[in-house]
Amino acid sequence: KKPAGAPDPKIAKKIGKIGVLGAGLMASQFALLFVRRLQVPVVITDLDQARVDKGVEYIHSEIDTLLGKGRIDSDEANRLKALVTGTVDKADFADCDWVIEAVFEELGVKQSVFAEVEQYIADDAILATNTSSLSVEQIGAKLKHPERLVGFHFFNPVAVMPLIEVVKTPATTDEALSTAMVTAKGLRKNAVITTDTPGFVVNRVLAKVLGEAMHAVEQGTSFETVVEAQRPFGLPMDPFVLLELVGLKVGAHVLDTHHAAFPERFFESAALHELAELGHIYEKDSKGKVKGVDKAAQKIVDK
Ligand code: 3HC
Repeated sequence: KKPAGAPDPKIAKKIGKIGVLGAGLMASQFALLFVRRLQVPVVITDLDQARVDKGVEYIHSEIDTLLGKGRIDSDEANRLKALVTGTVDKADFADCDWVIEAVFEELGVKQSVFAEVEQYIADDAILATNTSSLSVEQIGAKLKHPERLVGFHFFNPVAVMPLIEVVKTPATTDEALSTAMVTAKGLRKNAVITTDTPGFVVNRVLAKVLGEAMHAVEQGTSFETVVEAQRPFGLPMDPFVLLELVGLKVGAHVLDTHHAAFPERFFESAALHELAELGHIYEKDSKGKVKGVDKAAQKIVDK
């Protein structure tokens, strides 16, 4: 197997403008990080204007939170807000040097979003995907220039989690890889280079921990007992709070992908899919503090 090439900052592409495909929570969180740390214009897009507006509003409200906490002054807040633009027109991506996607976690959707944007961008623009567990190589399969695609996997909450997985496919150029590593450094994140295997490294480990926690509950152990039993291992969050943080739909999808890749080692969780439809596991108070397991969630796993 080809070893991951050593990134070289000298060949990294200089980034003057960034395009973000998708304006959901994950995309909005890293769009904010891009403007804050790299101080370059960021354009975000989604399926329709309402979704785009929601993303831009989220970024503005997080900038206001930073201002309220005294992390930035009002000049900086205004400057950051001015750097973010929302659009539904992919032609606005024409002058982006780096385009990253965090759209719906389905191979066909990601492939077609990239194929569409490739019609507008320069041949040497770098493309990145924030996929959780799909194959980066397959995501790039419909591109004219798949060699410019690299995985760039953030973790939730983006502002505080220190790691980025940079995923190299057999096709990824040293320029794309080096640009990803320099970009991660600019964001003040620790980047590790992983191979393009299902779940890369982090989700492979997390899918095991969270999948086993769900499976234990489905086999009749209570949520509370699972939480209590894992406490000595020092995880920063209980597994079900973490599942809610990453999103139950995303969590269910990650488990499905791992089960498909390694059926003998990972479980599918029918209950997690139903919990994703319900939208939560825990009942919470008005401040978001966990009050206990939601009755409807308990009913789902008791079936
Ligand atoms: N969104 C945004 N910011 C958040 C947040 C959230 N959900 N939760 C906490 N923060 C911020 C707080 O505002 C605070 O910021 P400040 O210093 O500017 O005030 C800072 O984080 C620390 O918050 P707390 O004092 O509440 O810190 P905690 O000690 O409780 O830590 C945590 C919070 C960092 C979220 C910690 O519980 C943790 O590390 N949890 C595990 C998270 C994790 O494993 N994420 C990876 C998930 S996998 C993934 O995303 C990949 C995907 O592909 C599935």
